[in-house]
Amino acid sequence: MSRRSEQLSEALHDYVVAHSTQPDEILRDLAKETASRFADEADMQIGPEQGTFMTLLARLIGAKDAVEVGTFTGYSAICVARGLAAGGRLLCCDVSEEWTSVARAYWQRAGLADKIELRLAPAAQTLRELPPATSFDFAFIDADKVGYVEYWDLIVPLIRPGGVILVDNTLSSGRVIDHGEQGDAVQGIRRFNGRALADDRVELVLLPIGDGLTMARKL
Ligand SMILES: C[S@@+](CC[C@H](N)C(=O)[O-])C[C@H]1O[C@@H](n2cnc3c(N)ncnc32)[C@H](O)[C@@H]1O
Repeated sequence: MSRRSEQLSEALHDYVVAHSTQPDEILRDLAKETASRFADEADMQIGPEQGTFMTLLARLIGAKDAVEVGTFTGYSAICVARGLAAGGRLLCCDVSEEWTSVARAYWQRAGLADKIELRLAPAAQTLRELPPATSFDFAFIDADKVGYVEYWDLIVPLIRPGGVILVDNTLSSGRVIDHGEQGDAVQGIRRFNGRALADDRVELVLLPIGDGLTMARKL
């Protein structure tokens, strides 16, 4: 998965990043450590301008309770948690002890450890086990692509009216429109894009930020 919008040249992408509020030292260090320790997977991390967008969006809607499906080394979680109102909480779902141990260290350094709860289990199981009265203002889906439709179906009922769901990689490096591409991940994204578009519980837009970011508002 690419972190750069497909339609942007590298130079224009750099300009977009340079003209967005910059990540602080903690996020920069986290990106560096992720790239050096997990070179093969580092591209899974959201880009800096997407992180800034997510912080702004959470802040703009006054989000307090949030959920993230797919945490990796914790970059997007820091961005979401920083946008939450006072007393806000972020529930993170992941299955990797190794990657999320890096996340925990950076949440501590960022002063967010008390604001973020990590559950290490398949996300569908975590979401199914939430108490019936659970409600979120904000959700970010960024885990295994074949699971997106299931995560969507579990999360939409938990979002309050006016709440927002962001879904990452919905352009799949442009593969969504290449019908020669029939891998599981791109098929999962195509299935998700169709399902979300047909869902009359939300209004949505597919933004060409990063690898494609679908932003849905619960009606
Ligand atoms: C694209 S990465 C997330 C990147 C992260 N949002 C960031 O910005 O750094 C996907 C993550 O989903 C996790 N994942 C994969 N399958 C999962 C599942 N069934 N349940 C929960 N997490 C899962 C992986 O362990 C990985 O950390």
